[in-house]
Amino acid sequence: MAEKNRIDISGFDHRLRSVGIIMDGNGRWAKAHGLPRTEGHKAGAKSLRPVIECLSELGVTCVTLYAFSTENWKRPKEEVDGIMNLILSYLDRAKGMWEKYDVSIRFIGDKAPLPERLRERCTEIENLSRGRSRTVNVALNYGGRDEIVRAVNAAIKEGCDPITEADISRHLYTADQPEPDLIIRTGGDMRLSNFMIWQSAYSELYVTETLWPDFGREDTITAVEAFYKRKRRFGGLNPEEAN
Ligand code: FPP
Repeated sequence: MAEKNRIDISGFDHRLRSVGIIMDGNGRWAKAHGLPRTEGHKAGAKSLRPVIECLSELGVTCVTLYAFSTENWKRPKEEVDGIMNLILSYLDRAKGMWEKYDVSIRFIGDKAPLPERLRERCTEIENLSRGRSRTVNVALNYGGRDEIVRAVNAAIKEGCDPITEADISRHLYTADQPEPDLIIRTGGDMRLSNFMIWQSAYSELYVTETLWPDFGREDTITAVEAFYKRKRRFGGLNPEEAN
């Protein structure tokens, strides 16, 4: 599969298993095309299939999509409703893809404030797709700081004293998953915007000016190639630097 995508990963000691995606630029794409912002999100939803399929073919087993942050409620109601409806209809329409690529869907974030129909559908989809070999996390009403606060409170409730890094990691939404090896951000901004701020401590960051609706298979391969050119040291030294 990797050959088909022109990346030879055989010589690498670090493998790309988990990818986080900050799908930014839908609004700017819509503006550039003289369309309302909601049309930008619709176009953004169409980018998901080729990108997820490509990552899956490249051996990635976990993809986390930043769909809606705890801060996105500040947007006009019409846009918020548009995004919620889009997520709902996309998840249903993409059912064939989740099955074909043996994907479990997980929602990370606080479901409580979501519209009831969406909340119920999220739980149904999670239950239906459980136990598959790959995972797509949809970060929905998700905030990294909120996640850490929840984890700390859960550790306190459990009686952890002192609280260790392992205690916090164990209580994150993504507790049983690999941390993202690579975070891709489209739309050019060089920040994490409260996305997986605990899990991204050693993630490689890849930022492209390309707006999310224009981001496709070729861009995905370029991002993965960039990842395999990075030297990952996790605070240590590479063997050739050690003497
Ligand atoms: C950021 O672009 C994008 C979002 C807040 C929404 C992303 C949601 C989707 C692509 C819908 C489908 C998602 C799933 C998981 C089915 P922006 O509006 O901030 O763009 P701008 O920076 O150009 O204004």
